[in-house]
Formats: sequence, C-alpha cells, structure tokens
Amino acid sequence: MRQVVACGSEEMAPGQKRAVQVGSRSIVLVRLGNGDYCALMNACPHQGAPLSEGELTGTTLPSTVGEYVYGRDDEVLRCPWHRWEFDVTSGNALFNDRRACVKRYDVTVEGGDVVIHY
Ligand code: FES
Repeated sequence: MRQVVACGSEEMAPGQKRAVQVGSRSIVLVRLGNGDYCALMNACPHQGAPLSEGELTGTTLPSTVGEYVYGRDDEVLRCPWHRWEFDVTSGNALFNDRRACVKRYDVTVEGGDVVIHY
C-alpha cells in the first residue's frame, strides 16, 4: 500500500474538507468535529460529481414518531449535484444501498502529518 502526506495535522480545522490530488486520483480529506480525519474517493458513484464541492453536514437520528433529532454533525457529505449523502467514516450512502458506496482510504496522523494510505 502506498501513502502520501496530505497536510499538517493542524492545518485543517474540524468540519473542514479539501480535495487532495494523488497522481491521477482525487481524494476528499475531511476533518471531523472530534479532530479525526477521514478520506474518500472524490467522485460520487452516481454521476461522478466532486464530493469535495459538496456540503459537510449531519443527519436526523433514529427517533420517535413526530420527533426530529439532528446529529452526526460534519460526518455526512452531500453530493453537490443531486444531493446523495455519504457517511464520511465508512463511505456508505445514507440510503443504505451498498452499491452506492464511495471508496474509503485509511488516514493516520504521523509526526504532525496527515497521511493518506491508498
Ligand atoms: S452525481 Fe452525486 S448524486 Fe448525482
């Protein structure tokens, strides 16, 4: 497995995302609210939109009828073209279709650098 340094570990604030070009592939790097990093292929499985241009948001959580509880802030990436939503921690679509998942890459923080393994 190959790896690339994407940025310094304090370069991105929680809730931020950016596109990282690694050779011919584009990866979207996301910093979660808890400070962890996640990385996904920067292409929506629907029609290929750059997910790095989408909105980082949350979603409604399981709740009782008539109740709407918002949560998972900054863990959901919404496609900018047709608004499919993806869990940035897994790459899975929120509508629970395994065929619509986005490739996820491991990310580590090593000596002050954010490293994407691809
Ligand atoms: S290209 Fe992403 S939902 Fe259509």
